[in-house]
Amino acid sequence: MALRAPKPLVLGTIQNRPIRPESGIFGPASAQLRATWIPETPLAFFRTRPLAMLANMNGMRVWAEIDLDGLTHNLAVIRQLSGPGVRLMLVVKADAYGHGAVGIAHHAVRAGIGALGVGTSEEALELREAGIRTPILVLGTVIDEEIRACLVHDVHLGVHTSDRLSQLAGLAAAMERPAKVHLNVDTGMGRLGVPPARALELLRKIAQSPHLELAGIMSHLAATRGALDPSGQAQVRSFDAFLDAARAITPNLGWIHMANSAGISSGLGSRYDTVRPGLAAYGAMPNDLPGAEHLRPVMRLRSQVVFLKDLPQGAPVGYESTWRAEHPTRIATLPIGYADGLPWRASPGGAVLIRGQRAPIVGRISMDYTTVDVGQIRDVAVGDRATLIGCDGGETIRLGDVARWADTIPYEISCSLGRRVHRRYVGGEDLPVPSQSVPPGVLGVPRALVPNRPPVQA
Ligand SMILES: Cc1ncc(COP(=O)(O)O)c(C=O)c1O
Repeated sequence: MALRAPKPLVLGTIQNRPIRPESGIFGPASAQLRATWIPETPLAFFRTRPLAMLANMNGMRVWAEIDLDGLTHNLAVIRQLSGPGVRLMLVVKADAYGHGAVGIAHHAVRAGIGALGVGTSEEALELREAGIRTPILVLGTVIDEEIRACLVHDVHLGVHTSDRLSQLAGLAAAMERPAKVHLNVDTGMGRLGVPPARALELLRKIAQSPHLELAGIMSHLAATRGALDPSGQAQVRSFDAFLDAARAITPNLGWIHMANSAGISSGLGSRYDTVRPGLAAYGAMPNDLPGAEHLRPVMRLRSQVVFLKDLPQGAPVGYESTWRAEHPTRIATLPIGYADGLPWRASPGGAVLIRGQRAPIVGRISMDYTTVDVGQIRDVAVGDRATLIGCDGGETIRLGDVARWADTIPYEISCSLGRRVHRRYVGGEDLPVPSQSVPPGVLGVPRALVPNRPPVQA
């Protein structure tokens, strides 16, 4: 990805005048500032979006409303579950699980998170280009060609091999700046990372190099129920034993992190000094683990009725005519299909909300369109809003519901939103500006939560 030369830091504009750090407006915004401040985030964001982004979303075929206040709330819940002083590394890989990494990252930094986790170096550089200066870790691994740009832009890298350490040390020496690395210890995931004994060898190499900075030690849980699963507990014991051995080699291990959403929910949030939540921050928990009930869905997926058709009894709908009207009814067509991320497998069984009521999806979901039975809903009209994820009236469809209909996991649903789905960011006005200067602890936290925390057997 081509990166522009760093620009002078501009935090936003007031009455067309740029706000720079030296403008002396750090801290909570005044009422006037709130009313007139145009944050840098949306501007940076719009640069990469078509002009249609600026139009009224209700005039769009399909759009996702991203509730930034919901994100603030979820981060506070995670903070409460993890305990005071624990650093939040928000995982924003895969375009923040489909929520839009740049918009989410800017808001999360304002909300006081301490770091961001991404999947690829390209994702890290996208955030740097958007002005994010918070520490960013590439959680997985990078390829050789990506390393230089990562060092230039101060991106932390997970490391797994001795060769990579040599390569990083050489480059860092030439660039006269240390490479910041997180040693990835495989305690049972079996994907990336190195087994503990080998990881100690890598640790010695890092400790001996003046060009490598040990920024952290990490491991990743395989069990989607975290420490509620015996295998999760075994991973914790293995990681703890590794950390004891590591401290004998070097006293400063940097950030220590293992807990993802399942780990936080199952009581591992306060065990180390950093947590890596993804799904929980977006309002869901894997397996509906404890804590899910306190979270607020961040994404609402909407479309609108573009066509209505009255069908006689026995009339077929969609490819392969998999559904036929049992009695005369009315079918509404929505301009959202599997190309937009609504899974093909969500029919039969799925539903959408129109006028606050459930309309079952009927017939096959196609690439661009979905058909729903609105025979039981009064006065449905072309232009009515359809909610595929979110609330309408007293009804709610959650990410997890769509995942269940499609026999998949919530992660896959939000990550699969297509390019045609416009993201619209709502809320977020109540956080202090600018995004990069929020002192820790400025956010209120919700009432005490009661997580179910099984102790990990020593
Ligand atoms: C290394 C790593 N840490 C943390 C996370 C966040 O996981 P979750 O979304 O379950 O909280 C992921 C996501 O897959 C990951 O790969």
